[in-house]
Amino acid sequence: LVAGIDSSTQSSKVLVCDAATGAVVREGRAKHPDGTEVAPAAWWTALQQAIAEAGGLDDVEAVSVSGQQHGMVCLDSAGDVVRDALLWNDTRSGRAAGELVVELGDGDVVAGRRAWAERIGSVPVASLTVTKLRWLADAEPENLDRVAAVCLPHDWITWKLSGSTDLADLATDRSDASGTGYFDSAANSYLPELLELALRRDPSAIRLPRVAAPNEVVGRLGGSGAALGPGCGDNAGAALGLGLAPGMTSVSLGTSGVVGVVSDTPVKDASGLVAGFADATGRYLPLAVTLNGAQILDAAARVLGVDHDELARLALAAVPDAGGAVLVPYFGGERTPNLPDANAALHGLTYANFSRENLARAAFNGLLTLLAEGMEAIRVHGVDINEVVLTGGAARSAAVQALAPVIFGTDVVVPTPGEYVARGAARQAAWVLAGGDTPPHWEAEGAQRLVAEHDPSILARYREFRQWSE
Ligand code: XUL
Repeated sequence: LVAGIDSSTQSSKVLVCDAATGAVVREGRAKHPDGTEVAPAAWWTALQQAIAEAGGLDDVEAVSVSGQQHGMVCLDSAGDVVRDALLWNDTRSGRAAGELVVELGDGDVVAGRRAWAERIGSVPVASLTVTKLRWLADAEPENLDRVAAVCLPHDWITWKLSGSTDLADLATDRSDASGTGYFDSAANSYLPELLELALRRDPSAIRLPRVAAPNEVVGRLGGSGAALGPGCGDNAGAALGLGLAPGMTSVSLGTSGVVGVVSDTPVKDASGLVAGFADATGRYLPLAVTLNGAQILDAAARVLGVDHDELARLALAAVPDAGGAVLVPYFGGERTPNLPDANAALHGLTYANFSRENLARAAFNGLLTLLAEGMEAIRVHGVDINEVVLTGGAARSAAVQALAPVIFGTDVVVPTPGEYVARGAARQAAWVLAGGDTPPHWEAEGAQRLVAEHDPSILARYREFRQWSE
């Protein structure tokens, strides 16, 4: 048996699987606190509950952890957390991101974007760890003085599972390292000069986790001695769990919206729209990530006083373009496009179109057009997208399923609902046991194919109103 853990923004999930087939044997889950600034101890408590619900890990031979990317976990020399972690969806470092771009470009924004893209594959936005470290240096220098190591949520959990308190035992993998903003995934090495730029000081006193190979044993589970894999970022975990082959595109509709493509070559994007990250197997995983995902639908359901089934029914009773009503859904600021301080706005309302049905339809159109623009940004890099694998909680909505192929202009494949991030972590754990150059083959779960005629007018109408920043 192997176990995969998904420590996501919302919860800890544990899957215990058969190492040979991937069949789920037991599972558990527990909720995390809300918010964009969270005490890592809360993830640890939730994980203990989830492990207990999954019947413990005593009979498991290997464990890997996948986690929400980018979160800044700062540790002092005793291994204690210095301050609450700032998560990927915390936008307070938006200004720091802008400063870092200009500074690397010696005062020139365009040169700065190119310089960052050349080094890390993307332009830093508030989500990336490097911008959070600049924020810490400026806003909390007394905390920075205490920092002896910086790691990511999944690195910290793997380290805690080992029972070590030695910072030298911290390990990560290239998928999550590539989201820090100070790692070159093509060269597989950290970029201390970027860390120095962010911290405004020599970073050599701050330890970074060792970047392990995708199937390397990085430690042993305290207690049972099971092998600990290096883990990975959650998007890389999902790609591994879904068994995405090179060229395949996934769209995930969770807390964030994510378009990702498995690629054999690195993508370096100076537009600020695509994150040129690595995957968990040695390939690359360019992503377009929105801050606003399924929460757009939660907000619409709340305002209309309906549940998600009724929201979908209302939306499907409306005309396709919501009578001209357009929701630009930047409720939590936005990352793609990079507008951390933006707000949502509803446009094009008339007495004739102002109905519950059209408001519901505008919410679905807003979510899906936001993602369709992410797909366009990835296509610019020569990636062909004819089919997307659609996952995440909102993928179960009847309206999302009906409208995704219409708005994306692609076939949409919806796999059987499952915990694909935790499954990916479990598959990595099976790889750690089996060794070899590629992860073990696990038969894909069943899937449903959705095909519909493309209606480009919905995206065109959205573009009349949405803000843009490149
Ligand atoms: C990826 C990103 C999000 C988080 C969500 O760049 O910020 O997808 O990983 O957990």
